[in-house]
Formats: sequence, C-alpha cells, structure tokens
Amino acid sequence: MSVLNKSFLWGGAIAANQAEGGYDKDGKGLSLVDLLPAGEARKEPLFNPSKALNQDFDYYPSHQSIDFYHRYEEDIKLFAEMGFKALRFSISWPRIFPNGDETEPNEAGLAFYDGLFDTLEKYGIEPIVTLNHFDTPYYLAKHYGGWYNRKTIDFFMNYATVLFERYSRRVKYWITHNEINMILHIPYIGGGLIIEDTDNKNQVMYQAAHHQLVASSLATKVAKEIDETNQIGCMLAAGDVYPNTSHPNDVMAAVSKNREQYIFIDVQSRGEYPNYSKRMFKDLGVSIKKEIGDDEILKQNTVDYISFSYYSSRLESGDDAINKNKTAGNAFASLKNPYLEASNWGWQIDPVGLRVTMNQIYDRYQKPLFIVENGLGEMDEINEDGTIHDTYRIKYLSEHLEQMIEAVKDGVPLIGYTSWGCIDIVSAGSGEMKKRYGFIYVDRDNKGNGSLNRSRKDSFYWYKQVIQSNGENLTY
Ligand code: BG6
Repeated sequence: MSVLNKSFLWGGAIAANQAEGGYDKDGKGLSLVDLLPAGEARKEPLFNPSKALNQDFDYYPSHQSIDFYHRYEEDIKLFAEMGFKALRFSISWPRIFPNGDETEPNEAGLAFYDGLFDTLEKYGIEPIVTLNHFDTPYYLAKHYGGWYNRKTIDFFMNYATVLFERYSRRVKYWITHNEINMILHIPYIGGGLIIEDTDNKNQVMYQAAHHQLVASSLATKVAKEIDETNQIGCMLAAGDVYPNTSHPNDVMAAVSKNREQYIFIDVQSRGEYPNYSKRMFKDLGVSIKKEIGDDEILKQNTVDYISFSYYSSRLESGDDAINKNKTAGNAFASLKNPYLEASNWGWQIDPVGLRVTMNQIYDRYQKPLFIVENGLGEMDEINEDGTIHDTYRIKYLSEHLEQMIEAVKDGVPLIGYTSWGCIDIVSAGSGEMKKRYGFIYVDRDNKGNGSLNRSRKDSFYWYKQVIQSNGENLTY
C-alpha cells in the first residue's frame, strides 16, 4: 500500500516565459525575461540589469523557447501518457495585460489559456496556476520601477481578478508569486527591479517584497470572495541552510540565513512580520513603508498551503572569511558541502535535505505542503536510434522521491509533487537549452537551432511507472 493518498497530485511544472515562446504573438507585451540573452552574457543583466538592459544581443531564448504556445496539445498528450494528474504552469502577465497598467485585458491572450485549460480538461490533468513566475511586464519595470512602486499592487490585482473571475471554476490550486524570496537574489526577474548602484539595495528589495506580500494577501481575499473553494499558496525557493560546522557561531549563522527565506512565509502563512525582522531590518538599514490597513490585510488573508521548490540544501559559516569561499551554484551562493556531489552546473545534490526541509517547513507552519519544483538540470545525449539514457536524472529523482516519502511517513501532509521542467525548457538562470530537466527531450540548442521535435527519454517511462504505482515503485 502506498503511503501517499490516492488523490496525490503527481505531475510536472513549467513557466510561461521559459516554455511558451510566441513572445510578441496576439498582442503580448514584453516580459522581463524577453530582454535577456543566453549563457555568459546573461549574468550581467540578470544580476545587474541597470548596466546591461540597453544592449542588443544576437539571440533571446525566450522569444521562441520551446514553442509551447503552438505545441501545447502535443505536449499535454505526452504528459497524459506519463499519467500526469497535474500540470503546474504560469500565466504570462504581459500576455493578459501587455504593459501591465491597462484597465482591460487582452482577449487574445486569455483565449490562448482557454485552449490550454480545455486541453488539460480533456486529458483529466489538474491545472496548478502560478500568477507571477518571474513575469512582471517589462513596461512596469521600466516606467514604474516594478514592485518597488506601490501602484504595482493595483496592476497585479487587476490581472489576478481577471484570472480568478474567468478560471476559478477550472482551477483549485493557485500560487501567487513564484519563489517570493528570489527577489533578494535576482531582483530584476523576481520583482521587476532595475536597481542603480546608488540605491540602497536592501531597502528597495524589501520594500518591493512588502508590496508583493500585500498583493498576495489581497489576491487571496479576492480569490475567496469569487469562489470560497479556491486554494491559495505561497511559493518558496526552499532548501535548508546547514551550519558549516558544529561551532555555535556557525549554527547561529545558519539560523539567520534560514530567516532570509522564512521571513516571507512567516508573513504569508502566519500573517505578520516575525519578531526577528525588527533587528534584521535595523541591521540592514531597511525601513518598510506601510499603509494603514496593510497589517490587517496580511493578518486576515493567509495562505492555505505552502508550495516550494527544492533543488539543494545550503551551507553557511559564522566566519566571514570562510563565507568568502561560497560558490554560486544557482541564484543562491553556498559553501561546498564535502558530503555532497554536485551537478555539472555546480548545484549540490542532497536528497535527505528534502526530508529535512519538508519537516522544517511543516513544523513551522502546520499547513499542507506542495513540492512544485524539483529536478536535475543536466546535458542529455540523443543516441543514433533516438533513445536518451538519462539514468543520472532518474537516480536524482528517485532518491529525492524516496526522501519525500520518508517525510510523509514523518507526518508531513503533502498535496503533490510536480517535477521541474517536465519537458525541456529554457533555463531561467543561464538561458541555456542544454541545461535540461525534462522527461521529454526537445530538439533545440543554445543558439535556437533544432527542429523542436519532442522525444521520450528513459526517465519518461520511469516516471510513468512511478505515477502508476503511486510512488511505490521507484526502481530503475
Ligand atoms: C527555480 C525557478 O528557481 O529554478 C525556475 O522557479 C527555474 O524558473 C528553476 O527554471 C531551475 O533553475 P534554472 O536556472 O536551472 O532554470
């Protein structure tokens, strides 16, 4: 007997700006990501957009991505063949409100999602919808300062209300902002923030985060008013931070580092800024400007469930000199954990860390969890006969699922698991295609060459077996 509920939501996850393409089709406005190139050239604009956004690059991977915009029927059919119960995807905000500040939505953009929902319904796949996955309209970033400007709350609410009104009948699980804590690490795509060297960066990021938090609570309120069965989740880029050694200073440093992620969920789940935030903000020179009523909004509209991504744990020292040796595996920098192996992109692999993280999050909030991202970004090779033997991915996933099941045995309620990039898509961090997560291979390279044809990898058949057995059979 499987320890997972019969209703466990097995599936995969993608994001509009990494999968759809069609970046200017049917009235869509520019997304933040539409101005980012691939590879090395991406680093500067991703982390420092004020310096690099006016450059012209040869190639913008999001413009066509994997053309999910035109090929979603074929892709969803393949997901159904694997037995998906759920697909997590995001709606592209600039497809619905091209600049972000219009009062009326773009019907052609909505029509695209109508078709997507119809197709999912046809195959019995439940949609899990993220409203904002690194996708604030570029126009809002450029002309309003993105989420730093309080007006963005109203723009977001126009957008969110349109979606709740149109799709509440079809969607149960909504996620407001993808990886809300990423605003501290990649503020451009996280919050539409183009921060100048002269700005007090922490002030800008935390003020913008406050606006996102208020917007998330307001969206929760409106979603429930429209349909009380709507379930609203927050979304954390999770991964427990371990102390570098058992030295008490390292332990305290890990506590503090963990708070950089949990501060957001403390607000979204418990409804208020935690006590430690006072000292934290003081030390950072941050003073959040709130409007009358903000505290009540946050308090009264907390989330129903906690969704999160998990790729790795992290390691922190209490000694600044040691912390200088951190490497940036992804947007998070971490010390190297000698007990862990790493992917070709330097992301450390820690399946047990998933169990640790799930237990920590549940102990803290006592709300159901939902793993909405997890997976291994690696290079794949197609053999002459068309097969793709991605045993490394199967190993990664099976070890993580094993630990996920251990956490459920520990008593953590879990709604589902949607593996990241279930079909190969453009990497958010590097803009590359060769960093692949999928069960389905897409013929496209880093420069945009390739037929875009889809092929099943070995992991495709393995995941099918996992879903069929409701997680009982992880063998490969
Ligand atoms: C998460 C994001 O941070 O990690 C995704 O929500 C992203 O958008 C994923 O794609 C993996 O990161 P990357 O950089 O390998 O694409």
